Amino acid sequence: MSCVIFAPVAASEDMLAQVLSAARLPTDDLGDPGRAFFALSDDAGPIGFIGLEGTGADRLLRSRVVLPARKRWGYGGLLVAHAEAHARQDGVERLHLLTQTVPDFFRSRGYRPAERASAPASITSTAQFASLCPASATYFVKDIA
Ligand SMILES: CC(C)(COP(=O)(O)OP(=O)(O)OC[C@H]1O[C@@H](n2cnc3c(N)ncnc32)[C@H](O)[C@@H]1OP(=O)(O)O)[C@@H](O)C(=O)NCCC(=O)NCCS
Repeated sequence: MSCVIFAPVAASEDMLAQVLSAARLPTDDLGDPGRAFFALSDDAGPIGFIGLEGTGADRLLRSRVVLPARKRWGYGGLLVAHAEAHARQDGVERLHLLTQTVPDFFRSRGYRPAERASAPASITSTAQFASLCPASATYFVKDIA
């Protein structure tokens, strides 16, 4: 792994929507308020993106994506770790997410599957929970405090 840089990225950044869209991840609500996105890159260019949504102690970990050519080099795990560190510094106590494709990836990073009904209202009211993610997606939560 070369020297990587983790930096905030605007929701309006074309590359963010393009990479998410190519991975079939939701892009409809990228520009809505209360979201923060981060980009991981190196000398060779963009590697991947990740986002946090919400304002309280419970936030949604979303828009997790690594460019196809850069997968399986540990960058996905690095993105998750950086987002967790950022969230922790911001006073977040729990991170929540939905995944249809990579449940084992999150299990091995300390996220535990839970019933959707057990999620707090601030999470169930997000667009991803309410409408953008399929009902078949598994809900995961992690205590990060
Ligand atoms: C999910 C995603 C972000 C993971 O990104 P990634 O950079 O490939 O992730 P990592 O390399 O950190 O880890 C992936 C796996 O590869 C393994 N791996 C990491 N580096 C490796 C290497 N050099 N050689 C072989 N395997 C390696 C890891 O052990 C990990 O396995 P584990 O989850 O069982 O521990 C990426 O696959 C992706 O963008 N997928 C499409 C979008 C998507 O599905 N996003 C999630 C929506 S819920």
